[in-house]
Amino acid sequence: MGGKSIGIIGMGWVGSSVAISVLYSGIANELLLYDIKTGIAEGEAMDLSHGSSFYPTARVAATTVEEMMRTDAIVVAAGRGGKPGETRLQLLNENVLIAKNIAEKLRGYEGIIIVVSNPVDVLTYFIQKFSGLPTSRVIGTGTMLDTARLKEILGQSLLLDPRSIHAQVIGEHGDSEVVLWSSAMVGGMNLRNWKGWVREKELVISERVRTAAQEIIKRKGATNHAIGLVTATLIKWMLRGERRIINVSRVQEGAMGYMDVAISLPTIVGIDGATEVLIPNMSDEEHEKFHKSVEVIKKAIVSVKY
Ligand code: LAC
Repeated sequence: MGGKSIGIIGMGWVGSSVAISVLYSGIANELLLYDIKTGIAEGEAMDLSHGSSFYPTARVAATTVEEMMRTDAIVVAAGRGGKPGETRLQLLNENVLIAKNIAEKLRGYEGIIIVVSNPVDVLTYFIQKFSGLPTSRVIGTGTMLDTARLKEILGQSLLLDPRSIHAQVIGEHGDSEVVLWSSAMVGGMNLRNWKGWVREKELVISERVRTAAQEIIKRKGATNHAIGLVTATLIKWMLRGERRIINVSRVQEGAMGYMDVAISLPTIVGIDGATEVLIPNMSDEEHEKFHKSVEVIKKAIVSVKY
């Protein structure tokens, strides 16, 4: 491993967690940091460098966005995070302006952009439009995090490692997200056939996944570690060309008939980005919910003033 250069734009709670997770993953031999407050990026670079005896060798430095143009992947974590009680969509107008500014600087970039800032689906859409990069190379972390939360909660409930549970969340990374219970599998068996499984559990667990970020923000003011791990892992799998199927957001070009909206579906992710979007089995009810989720994001896109 190694040999890759990664940039992070925005060094708040999330950016700094992405940074440490990327360093620990060993995928980067160079990590470049940028924040509009130069001192923050410099301070983070110094702090992270002082730990260099304890992670695989990497150079960490504060730079400009322009200097990041030669990297393999850039993470966009800039923008305001949610306050207690605020939905991700309420961050929209402020964060779109920041995203537009960044995307215009990234025109002609040859690597992959990973969008983390919220509302992640809408920002993925605008960053793709304003940067002019191919849709496969602008990826929002989307419901990869919600899927990880779902598997963790299910794991606790079934006393299984989350990695042994095949269940997923699609749609908006936000209140309209959809858990695909009808196709959830454990050990080759439909989850609904698991001993003691009752449908009531689905309602409770879906709600816990949907409100997970709010519960954390209420307590500590932000979420950062899980999204940091999600982002670093996505970058690692991608830059190693692993062709994993992950639930990520990208501007859709006809998947399930949808165009001009960024939303999460299971997608093959490899060295060229999020290239092939897959359509999972869904019940009619799940299909209907997914359609509503598309509408929520489309409405948010149209509402933006820039
Ligand atoms: C969360 C933020 C990143 O779900 O949206 O933790």
